[in-house]
Amino acid sequence: MSRQILVTSALPYANGSIHLGHLVEYIQTDIWVRFQKMRGHECHYVCADDTHGTAIMLRAEKEGITPETLIGRVWNEHTRDFAGFHIGFDHYYSTHSDENRELASTIYLRLADAGLIETKTIAQLYDPIKNLFLPDRFIKGECPKCGALDQYGDNCEVCGATYSPTELKNPVSAVSGATPVHKDSEHYFFKLGTCETFLREWTTSGALQAEASNKMQEWFASGLNNWDISRDAPYFGFEIPGAPGKYFYVWLDAPVGYMASFAKYAAVYGLDFNAWWGPDSKTELVHFIGKDILYFHALFWPAMLKYSGHRLPTAVYAHGFLTVNGQKMSKSRGTFITADSYLAQGLNPEWLRYYYAAKLNGSMEDLDLNLDDFTARVNSDLVGKFINIASRTAGFIRKNFDGKLADGVANIELIGAFQAAASDIAAHYEARDYGRALREIMALADRANQYVADEKPWELAKKPEAVYRLHEVCTVALNCFRLLTLYLKPVLPKLAEQVETFLNIPPLTWDDAQSLFIRHAINEYSHLMTRIDPKSIEAMVDANKQNLEPTAPAPVRHAEAQTHAAQPATAAPVADTPESNMIGIDDFAKIDLRIARIANAENVEGADKLLRLTLDLGDLGTRQVFAGIKSAYAPEALVGRFTVMVANLAPRKMKFGMSEGMVLAASGDAPGLFILSPDSGAQPGMKVK
Ligand code: 2FM
Ligand code: ZN
Repeated sequence: MSRQILVTSALPYANGSIHLGHLVEYIQTDIWVRFQKMRGHECHYVCADDTHGTAIMLRAEKEGITPETLIGRVWNEHTRDFAGFHIGFDHYYSTHSDENRELASTIYLRLADAGLIETKTIAQLYDPIKNLFLPDRFIKGECPKCGALDQYGDNCEVCGATYSPTELKNPVSAVSGATPVHKDSEHYFFKLGTCETFLREWTTSGALQAEASNKMQEWFASGLNNWDISRDAPYFGFEIPGAPGKYFYVWLDAPVGYMASFAKYAAVYGLDFNAWWGPDSKTELVHFIGKDILYFHALFWPAMLKYSGHRLPTAVYAHGFLTVNGQKMSKSRGTFITADSYLAQGLNPEWLRYYYAAKLNGSMEDLDLNLDDFTARVNSDLVGKFINIASRTAGFIRKNFDGKLADGVANIELIGAFQAAASDIAAHYEARDYGRALREIMALADRANQYVADEKPWELAKKPEAVYRLHEVCTVALNCFRLLTLYLKPVLPKLAEQVETFLNIPPLTWDDAQSLFIRHAINEYSHLMTRIDPKSIEAMVDANKQNLEPTAPAPVRHAEAQTHAAQPATAAPVADTPESNMIGIDDFAKIDLRIARIANAENVEGADKLLRLTLDLGDLGTRQVFAGIKSAYAPEALVGRFTVMVANLAPRKMKFGMSEGMVLAASGDAPGLFILSPDSGAQPGMKVK
């Protein structure tokens, strides 16, 4: 029976780049969606950028642009990166949309009508210079438990304590450096406690994984706090109806963004919004998320839906975090790898899709990207086993049989086993146990390879009397190959497309598993996939160690998530490991700082932050350097200026060319970026000590 399924992935924040940690979820979801579509179900996959909040407002201010410009630019980057990994959204929208404003307001007003909104005056830390209430992540100070310096307002990275920002000792605003003051303000709260009976029932109704449902019981045990859904101006978001100067907290309108994205899409494609979101909807609604945002999706969101007269999610599937080489992603180790930098090295996105799929099992366990294992596994499974079947047999069909397959299959037992596996493999995809699906598929690939190895078509081809047998063997092998392609297609959609062209067949659907592939002319085989060269992995790690583009403070998933005593105290999915910043004099002496004259400066097409500088070092010659200073300087204003550069930085290959050094510039939490200049009299090439 055909199903109607609406699928979402969590909306990424519009203040950071997509990285390999994010991609676990988008790849996981995309595989599931592609699988459902191949099964013939009506499946729609929507997502959007999550655009609101203080962090985005401040970042735009720092860059000297409006939040709208910032989120527009990031939307382009995100959609480009997702497309690069073949994430096939049916619609990718933004939470800063008319539909979202409308839907968030309606939901809020209905919750208010149901008596579920209350106001309360609370005191919070306020930056008296920026005139801004400070989210936890924008307050730093000494840990109240262990005294460690420079800790964020919600938890200590040294001792792991969680606390409220008002408990920090000697707090400072990370925005202006001011000492925050306590200030009262009226806030709007969603009375989550009132929804407890419903939530206890819903969280045990089968919509959550067992491990998530158990986690919920811990949260119930520690009591449900009412949820603060308002923030004071200045805030980038939607003003609350009837509450001037108060804005919806970003997490209120973020999940509504799922609906809004669908609403826009439905309007374009003529789908009935109410049939999908109304209280009596018969369709399925499936959310893929990371385990860190379970609280929002398993408590706040269903309660919002229920009491605003909408349908409830059919399933919320949470996955674990990504580690790289067994550790949290780290900028200093070069393992905080952006989607863009992966693709820029020429790495095939389907390698990563395959590796993640092989590691995913539908649970909330963390997933490790071990870079050596990644190389070995992709090379052995995809190239060594899968592609190998076609590359060893297709040529004979073209050469000896005019491209035409035999009229029947010789080894009906082998093909039968391949066909019989379809339902098991489908069940594993359905259960998001892609690892198991791929193990079964690779076991079939092993059998096909064994068959080819036993039959030795290259030897049959040498014997004129074996020509008939050769035809049969290659036909069997290509039947196996076609079925393996079909089973791998949710994971490797582009490779499957190439195979479909090569086999000269229409797009494979799941039902095609039951047909035989005979009496059919194929096209010429051309190589389908190369091996991973370990050097390109090393280059990618190096490029991420030496990323010249200045970044905003590390994008933290919960830039402003409300702290809740029962919320998981797990770290953000990715975080940089704090490492000592001290260097010895010997290390410093290694840095060759020189006076440089900026002989030329120009914009770099396709780069938002970079200028290409030609630096004159006098007798030492000229250097090309890409500097992330575009937000602060017009190129023409720089030409002729003197500055300071690191002259012995190993040249780095960037997306736009080689960068042969680095100019020094100052930046802090306050807006602005300032390149250093020597006093007059300094000459190009002089050493700076
Ligand atoms: O944690 C995050 O990255 C959030 N931007 C996810 C939002 S998901 C949904 F609720 F919008
Ligand atoms: Zn501490």
